[in-house]
Amino acid sequence: MKVLRTVQEIRDFAGEQKKAGKRIGLVPTMGALHEGHLSLMRAAREKCDVVIASVFVNPTQFGPNEDYDAYPRRFEEDCRLLEGIPVDAVFHPEPSEMYPEGYCTYVQVDGDITNKLCGAQRPGHFRGVATVVTKLINLSRADEAFFGQKDAQQVVVIRRFVEDLNLNVHINMVPIVREESGLARSSRNTYLSPEEKEAACVLSRSLQNAKKAFEGGERDAEALKGLVAKEIQGEPLASIDYVELFSFPALHPMEKVTEDALLAIAVKIGKTRLIDNVILEGGRG
Ligand code: PAJ
Repeated sequence: MKVLRTVQEIRDFAGEQKKAGKRIGLVPTMGALHEGHLSLMRAAREKCDVVIASVFVNPTQFGPNEDYDAYPRRFEEDCRLLEGIPVDAVFHPEPSEMYPEGYCTYVQVDGDITNKLCGAQRPGHFRGVATVVTKLINLSRADEAFFGQKDAQQVVVIRRFVEDLNLNVHINMVPIVREESGLARSSRNTYLSPEEKEAACVLSRSLQNAKKAFEGGERDAEALKGLVAKEIQGEPLASIDYVELFSFPALHPMEKVTEDALLAIAVKIGKTRLIDNVILEGGRG
């Protein structure tokens, strides 16, 4: 596996692959890789001739009081996991390589999809994500890029700017990978104590309960959100940031679930903010 650290190195690598007629798959990550990330790598491996992963803790998507400094960094271990897939190249730049002195260009996705959920709670977050993902797509010359449903709003935002900026890349969304307990895999799970980790199962459990109610015929958005909130409030270590239901992928508010809907939550377990979601399909039955 090639380790690419500079803009020039990834440009040269992508250029060679293009010249050889290869189809390039890109999997952007911030590292501290787990099974969730690896399922994206496998999806890319299956669909593409060449897989480029990126491991870059992107400073522009973290707010001033967020966990940029504390975010886990373990590049050597990440490389071992990537070699196991196998991935062809990993792009691992320094922040100064991506944002050199004088840098001042950002991709800002306006409107209805960024003013809610994590967009409302983390000002500037999606601007940072859109900016770095645009740069990564350009540099890797990817034909396909792979993202997790775990961050469903992120996928909606990325699909929006890819269409709006006429980027020639297909965005794939890969299902959420969970631990046996139901807890969605996340690099931030490393912040949890054993007790908190057990408490964190309330996220997936509450969503599964609501999904069952939906499958049993419940279509009222407030009732579905209420079920989730009630379950989370029963867990002493948990505090709700949001419990929301929007149409998917448009992210319009809905009173009754009559089309695909995203039931999404953000919950603090102790000091750690975790997100999870389910997609309720169809709504007509
Ligand atoms: P990161 O949190 O490292 O996640 C990288 C990718 O892995 C994202 O597409 C995310 O949705 C996916 N992922 C994380 N946990 C998952 C799980 N349990 N199941 C399936 N997929 C999962 O998301 C980011 O990094 C950044 O915002 C990034 C896109 C790299 C831009 O900096």
